[in-house]
Amino acid sequence: MAMDRKLKIMFICLGNICRSPMAEFVMRDELSRRHLDHLIEVSSGATSYEEYGNPVYPPAVQKMKREGVTIYPHRATPIVKEDYDRYDMFIGMEDYNLRRMRNIFGGDKDNKISKLLDYTSRGGDIADPWYSGNFDATYRDVVEGVDGLINHLTENNLI
Ligand code: 4NP
Repeated sequence: MAMDRKLKIMFICLGNICRSPMAEFVMRDELSRRHLDHLIEVSSGATSYEEYGNPVYPPAVQKMKREGVTIYPHRATPIVKEDYDRYDMFIGMEDYNLRRMRNIFGGDKDNKISKLLDYTSRGGDIADPWYSGNFDATYRDVVEGVDGLINHLTENNLI
């Protein structure tokens, strides 16, 4: 059922400096393009304290700038148990993020946790650029996932 307030979505990865901020920024731009930005609030967070307070990793910023994605101010922010009730959806990039979230939140009683590529026909994990340095693959996956996610929300009357 459509919400009487903004739907609150948080994208999650391990460090919150590469994959989840990329998903957050790509989603914001895509929501603006589709005139849906007044319906959804988007944020991102980390399952670890590895990058606490750090900005988006420069190669990720470069890739998004080349693609014309809007860059927002950002500091890597670890999720805490209390976040569970503050958001409607937590969308991880890979299976490990989902396991960590369930651990931090103490489960997922309201079924709020999912994985970004679950909203595409192929499923799987978002390509991790941390060791590969391949931000092109990450961006391609993120764009596909975000497109599928927005289609899912509109087609199922969730916004
Ligand atoms: P992200 O990338 O989870 O996509 O932000 C990583 C950032 C930092 C680390 C791993 C992945 N790390 O191990 O510190």
